[in-house]
Amino acid sequence: MLTIESLTHLGMGRASDGRALLPRVLPGEEVDVAQDGTVRIVTPSVDRVTAPCRHFRSCGGCTMQHARDDFVSEWKQDIVVKALQARGLTPVLRPVATSPAQSRRRAKLSGQRTKKRAIVGFHAKASGTLVQVPDCQLLTPALLATLPALEALTVLACSRKGEIDLTVTETALGADVLVVTEKELTSQLRVELAALANQFGLSRLVWNDEPVVVINPPAQDFGSIAVVPPPGAFLQATKHGEATLLAAVDEITSTASRIIDLFAGCGTFTLPLAKRAEVRAMEGDAAMLDALDRSWREGHELRRVTTEARDLFRRPLETDDLRQFDAAVIDPPRAGAEAQIATLAASDIKTIAMVSCNPVTFARDAKTLVNAGFAMDWAQVVDQFRWSPHVEIVAPFTRK
Ligand SMILES: C[S@@+](CC[C@H](N)C(=O)[O-])C[C@H]1O[C@@H](n2cnc3c(N)ncnc32)[C@H](O)[C@@H]1O
Repeated sequence: MLTIESLTHLGMGRASDGRALLPRVLPGEEVDVAQDGTVRIVTPSVDRVTAPCRHFRSCGGCTMQHARDDFVSEWKQDIVVKALQARGLTPVLRPVATSPAQSRRRAKLSGQRTKKRAIVGFHAKASGTLVQVPDCQLLTPALLATLPALEALTVLACSRKGEIDLTVTETALGADVLVVTEKELTSQLRVELAALANQFGLSRLVWNDEPVVVINPPAQDFGSIAVVPPPGAFLQATKHGEATLLAAVDEITSTASRIIDLFAGCGTFTLPLAKRAEVRAMEGDAAMLDALDRSWREGHELRRVTTEARDLFRRPLETDDLRQFDAAVIDPPRAGAEAQIATLAASDIKTIAMVSCNPVTFARDAKTLVNAGFAMDWAQVVDQFRWSPHVEIVAPFTRK
């Protein structure tokens, strides 16, 4: 018998033998591990619950449904606390904001042909087996309602042996679907895809990187401003997560009238902030900035927004360029923003709102700012990746 001592940052249990890393266990539990690796819980934790999703046992999509919500929040907060403590940082923590069940508005599913037709779902853990998830507790009801369309699409888009990727995003006017497949797009297939998109009320259907059918604009609503992102473009995982991050960013930059939004994407923060401040949006992907710029031009009563496509890893904004701004918003990818944070630290900018999806790079970049004289007033975990090990953080940095 083994005792689970703690969880890794990926949610695997460290067992008392110092060797085994076991899935779907909780600290304090006593477990038996059979020869074939099956784990039997002998003494369950008080934090253990019955998974709310009937697919949890077979599906690899969620990791943490066997634990109470409070336990998962505390575990994620602890990951952030430990990453910050390792850098000597101990900010006040705001309560974790967890997105509700059935609120994930974008998903990447896989499709396979079967003898009879096709199946669409998530992979079982560390396996090529696809698990169908008609009662998934993670995805929005609108996304679940697209499963029949995705199955029909798999019949058209997938060869007998292969597998296809299906990225589906909820929009107000039907699902926005991106299919990545090796199959060739013929003119006959175009006709069939158009009929399928009409039949199932999709807003847009993109084949690899080519939009083959656009029935309605697949718009997202960023603070009541409609934006049509390019296919597959980054989007905050839930509406709740996006609103929580935006409220924090808005609060942190509330007195600024000139804001620089770094790693701006399609304008999740830029466009709502432009209701009260001039904003310059910098981002590596020119197509995302084109979408942002189009929305700003069509928007009403927005302050000036300018954009620049730029690789901020290789060519971060220099301290002189930053002089014209009162505040910066920075929301880099997982690698963080080492080079850009270094010039922000050396600049005389007063306020920074930092959003991050990686506690380790967040703590590294936060330390650079604190060493340069910024105070980290608080930090908040925004759990828009419910039941997964992903962590999102937002925090203000103000010059002392
Ligand atoms: C976490 S997303 C945030 C986007 C946006 N702030 C939002 O909330 O929708 C990170 C963004 O950084 C962009 N990006 C990634 N690497 C980059 C680089 N080297 N230079 C500039 N932008 C980059 C991505 O295209 C993506 O839009």
